[in-house]
Amino acid sequence: MQKILPSDLSHRDRHQLLLSGVAPRPIALVSTVDEAGVGNISPFSFFNAYGSKPPILAIGPAISAKTGATKDTWRNIMATKQCTVNVCTYSMVEAINLASAEYPPDVDEFEKCGLSRVNASIVTPPLVRESPYSMECVLMENIELRRDIGGNGNIMLLEVVCFHVSDSIMHDGQIDPRRMDLIARMGHDYYCRISPHSIFEVHKPGVPGIGVDALPEHIRTSVVLTGNHLAKLAGVQYLPMLDGSFPQFAKDFRADSVQIELEGGRPDAALFVLLSQGKQRDRGIRHKIAAAFLDQNKISEAWQTLLLE
Ligand SMILES: Cc1cc2nc3c(=O)[nH]c(=O)nc-3n(C[C@H](O)[C@H](O)[C@H](O)COP(=O)(O)O)c2cc1C
Repeated sequence: MQKILPSDLSHRDRHQLLLSGVAPRPIALVSTVDEAGVGNISPFSFFNAYGSKPPILAIGPAISAKTGATKDTWRNIMATKQCTVNVCTYSMVEAINLASAEYPPDVDEFEKCGLSRVNASIVTPPLVRESPYSMECVLMENIELRRDIGGNGNIMLLEVVCFHVSDSIMHDGQIDPRRMDLIARMGHDYYCRISPHSIFEVHKPGVPGIGVDALPEHIRTSVVLTGNHLAKLAGVQYLPMLDGSFPQFAKDFRADSVQIELEGGRPDAALFVLLSQGKQRDRGIRHKIAAAFLDQNKISEAWQTLLLE
């Protein structure tokens, strides 16, 4: 590991180092108008949610470290106290990149980047039609970050006064992240795309688990089970006992070899083969079968497989 002190780096290197580690960051496409009514849209990845009663967001428009210039977005929000925040999908990535160019304040960036407006219902700045999820916001507070030492950051706390959610991203009464196709920002010029195959669920622990330190040693030191597998096993409330009725198979249950069944994602069939061959003492294979159960979130089956000594 390299140890790096912020004070040893140039501003540019410090910026990239910070942003490469604080990643991926969601991207807000912020729409504002100036006091004369000229529209502006710009992307901000210093963006997150911090409260839900009331709903509060923050964006971080920086001040140029070189010139000390403020962003149009920052000036517009300070002047009008309003903006809309629109999430960014993959189909918008080139448009938001265009919108990030430094156009003069009197240039309408909606026109420049080819995105379209929809009237908001409470605030004056428009929503971005191409975004499937938008928020109308009012300024709560602007926090200047360490201006005493020349800091160039701001945190603008924004209260959401209205949400707009497209039907296209809804499923069974809630937002389905697989339908959003969101993008996020990494360090340097890297982005990532949140595609359906990169989304997975992790269920919250209902109770404090026994912990990895309480796992039997042969499990804790397994060369097959990963850290994620061990943490899943460690989420049980009590150390399980061998259940004499496990496993149960139908009379006509058929299976191929352990390897083929594991490759086919059928750990139960792999276990059937192992037991039929009288090889349940083979710890390595049992750990592989348990790992396959854990990958399918079948925690109890995994535990029972591991306990079958
Ligand atoms: C994906 C993306 C994320 C960005 N995030 C930020 C940010 O969080 N803060 C910032 O000051 N600039 C950020 N920028 C740069 C601004 O979008 C850029 O300076 C823009 O010109 C500001 O426009 P404005 O002066 O019209 O407000 C980002 C640019 C891109 C492409």
